[in-house]
This record gives sequence, C-alpha cells and structure tokens, in this order.
Amino acid sequence: MNKAVLNGDIRKNKISRHIYGHFAEHLGHCIYNGFWVGPESSVPNTEGIRNDVVEALKKLNIPNLRWPGGCFADEYHWEDGIGPREERPTMINTHWGGVTENNHFGTHEFMRLCELLECEPYICGNVGSGTVKEMSSWIEYMTMDGKSPMADLRRENGQDDPWSLTYFGVGNENWGCGGNMRPEYYADLYRRYATYCRDYGENRLFKIACGPNTDDYHWTEVLMREASKVGFMDHWLMDGLSLHYYTVPGTWQKKGSATEFGPEEWKATMEKALYMDKLIEGHAAIMDRYDPEKRVALVFDEWGTWFDVEPGTNPGFLFQQNTQRDALVAAIGLNIFNNRSDRVRIANIAQTINVLQAMILTKDDKMVLTPSYHVFEMFKTHQENDLLPLDNLPKEISGSASIDREGRVFMTLANMDGEKESRFDVEIRGLSVKGVKGRILKTENISDHNTFEDPDRVKPVDLEGVDWEGNTLKISLPAASVVALQMA
Ligand code: AHR
Repeated sequence: MNKAVLNGDIRKNKISRHIYGHFAEHLGHCIYNGFWVGPESSVPNTEGIRNDVVEALKKLNIPNLRWPGGCFADEYHWEDGIGPREERPTMINTHWGGVTENNHFGTHEFMRLCELLECEPYICGNVGSGTVKEMSSWIEYMTMDGKSPMADLRRENGQDDPWSLTYFGVGNENWGCGGNMRPEYYADLYRRYATYCRDYGENRLFKIACGPNTDDYHWTEVLMREASKVGFMDHWLMDGLSLHYYTVPGTWQKKGSATEFGPEEWKATMEKALYMDKLIEGHAAIMDRYDPEKRVALVFDEWGTWFDVEPGTNPGFLFQQNTQRDALVAAIGLNIFNNRSDRVRIANIAQTINVLQAMILTKDDKMVLTPSYHVFEMFKTHQENDLLPLDNLPKEISGSASIDREGRVFMTLANMDGEKESRFDVEIRGLSVKGVKGRILKTENISDHNTFEDPDRVKPVDLEGVDWEGNTLKISLPAASVVALQMA
C-alpha cells in the first residue's frame, strides 16, 4: 500500500492567508442582488449590503476582496461612483451583458463591505481606458490623510478618515479586455502608472502588475525584465505579478455544462485543474531568474471553473451551478497554492456570488452555500500557518499540510478519482500524534449540488473514526471526496 510521509519537523515558508482571497466584479448578479440590494430593500441589509451574505462569508475568514473587476475595471471610472447615489451617472457595462450600470455601488460602498467582512480591499485600477491622473487621484482620494483636493472631496462625501489600502492592481488582463496590449507596451505603461501610485501618510501600497494569461511565459519574461525594477538604483516598482487561468473542461466555445456531466468530463476537469501547478512552476522559474529572493509575489487573482451558463440565463452574466466537481477544483487549487506559497502569496477565486465558481448563490431574499464555499471553510485553518512537506501521496490524491503556532497540524486531502475509493497510509515524522479529528465533504453522485429547494444536500460532516496506529494514519477517502484533518 502507498505510504505518504508528512514531515512535522520541517517547517517551510508561511502560507499567506491572502491565498484564500475572493473576487467581486460588476458582472451579472455578483454586486447587484449579490452583495448589494440598496438600503431601501426588503432584504435585510446594512447600509445596502446584504446581511446574510456577510454573515456567511465572515465564516470563511476572507482575507481580501478584489474589486471592481476583471474586465470591468478597465472601463470603470471611479469618480462616477461617489457622491449622492441618485446623482451618479450611469454607464453601459459593455463586457457583461450590455446592461446599464447605475454606479450605486462605488468606492464608499465597497470599503464599507470590506469593513463588514473584516477583510482587506484589493482594488484594480483602470489602465485600459483611464488616465494616469485618474488612477493617481483615486489613490489620493482613498488614502490621503492630510488636506488635499481629493481628501477634501472624500470628506465631503462623508468619509473623514482615509481608508487603509494595501493591494492595488495596475490594470487587468491588459493583454486582452484591458487594451489588447503587447507586453513591451504594457511594461512601459506599468512603469508610468505605477510611478504615480503614491504612498500617502502611513499607507503603503502593494502594487500588482497585470501578469500573463495561462502559459504566456513571454509576458512574464518581459514584465519581470522590464518593469519589476527601475532606475539607476534598481528600485522595486512591482510587488506582485498576476496570473489568470480558468479550469474549462471543454473548449472556450463549448465549455460543458456545470451539472450535466459524466466520468469523462470529470476526469478532464481534474486534469485541467492540476495544470495550475505546472503553470506556477513555469512562471515561477522565470521570476526566480529576475528575483531569486522571491520578493515579487505571484498573484493568482483569477482562478476557478468556467462552464456554459445555466440554460435560460443571460450569457453575459456567467451564472453557473456548483457541484461536488467544483469542490474538488477548489480543493486542488488551494492545495497547490499552499504547496507553492513561497511564490504564490495572493489568490482570488472567481467569483464570490452568482458568477462562475461562486461561494454563494442568491435569489431574491434566499441564499444558498455552494460546495466550493464548504471547501474554503474547511481549508481556512491553513491560513498563516507554516507549510509542512507532504510527500509521496497516491497520484489520485491532492493534499497539503501545515502547522500553526500552537503546534496543531492540519492536512487537507481530496480524492480526484470520481469512481474509486483511495486507501493509503500517512506516516507522520517529527511529531507524536495524540489525537486526530476531521470533516469530510462527500456526495452520492459527482454532480450533486445545493439548490434553493435543497440547500444542504452537499455539506461537510464529521469524519467518523480516523484510524491511526502509532504515528501512521490509515486513510480511506471515498471517491470524489474532500477531507480536512486536524492532529494534535
Ligand atoms: O471573471 C470573469 C472575467 O474573466 C474577468 O472579468 C476577466 O478578467 C477574465 O477574463
């Protein structure tokens, strides 16, 4: 039988909690009817923000929330989203369904949402259709403490104190929807825009450059070479480089249904999710050449499944159901990020509510938690722990392990085989195991999911009787299951 080894006494790097980040774009019903219902709504809310989703998301310990896009970010003009709501101009959301955006959810509403979620804002600025001045004055508006035109405007709009803002993206997908640029051109624009992203008072920005699409290694090479360090003093201008990759089981034209699939599509999805590891390896190798000390983080700020939209829904709204297959993709992604957390220090699953691989689906005043939500909840124990090496797992198993400050060890495992149980041992070295407990997310069918009528079909339960002998755990994982174990 396969014997995996967990080395409890080899502490590697810290797993940044920011790997467990989320993403909220003005797309479909992520913001409107997802997070935001407005203060007048009959749906219980705090200053327009839904109470039920805030309460549910707080249980995930969300570290950061990326906003306002995505593709939307490069056509968003922040000044349209401040001041009295009824006076804000409208715009057309050309990327996502051509709907009218009323700008009722803007900077103040987003910052309030982050306060309620107790998470850090991650704001993406507009390079594609915005100016340097526009980006620079947005940062001044949000973070300037003393007297300045933008700080005064913020005060006029009801916010005296500056907000604290660390994570700032200088454009999104500028190789595509953000301007169809070549890397050489974007690298120069990054240098220019990032120069005027100023630190005011105590605030320190962590500037994130638009990184590659999937396996565009040339983009990474050019950005690292031309824009990570500048000037005769080799001043670091880049703190993070983003990476986007979606798990699409079919082709971009015919991605496949979110709920109607069989073993073939299951297998294709697992393989495509595992590809994230290869991608990180490839991009990290290039980054290592320019930045051996790993100062620049790889920011995987869009990842997750992308299927055909649910039949009968607006194709521009990217609304899809979420099954046990999504739970597996979430587990695979988070395990990969944990294991590669020396370079991957921020990640954002796309997207939080009602869009792509969502945590939450809403309909009127109802809310349902998806299997992906449960994986994020089960895996949150890794946040800020030290990574432990977990080697020699069977090939069908995705896993990672960590240790917290109190010496508690956490191990998360997923059986990627959709049909067969997996049995294996894990020898724990360098620690003595006194007790093990855990939870499991498993389903009767691989396509099981939660609906408004049956919201708890897929949810974690306590794992009965984890067997262990001495320092060896005897694991048996049902097909297509996800497990979180805690050892003390
Ligand atoms: O998440 C949906 C879209 O996917 C984002 O707006 C864009 O950045 C990516 O192409």
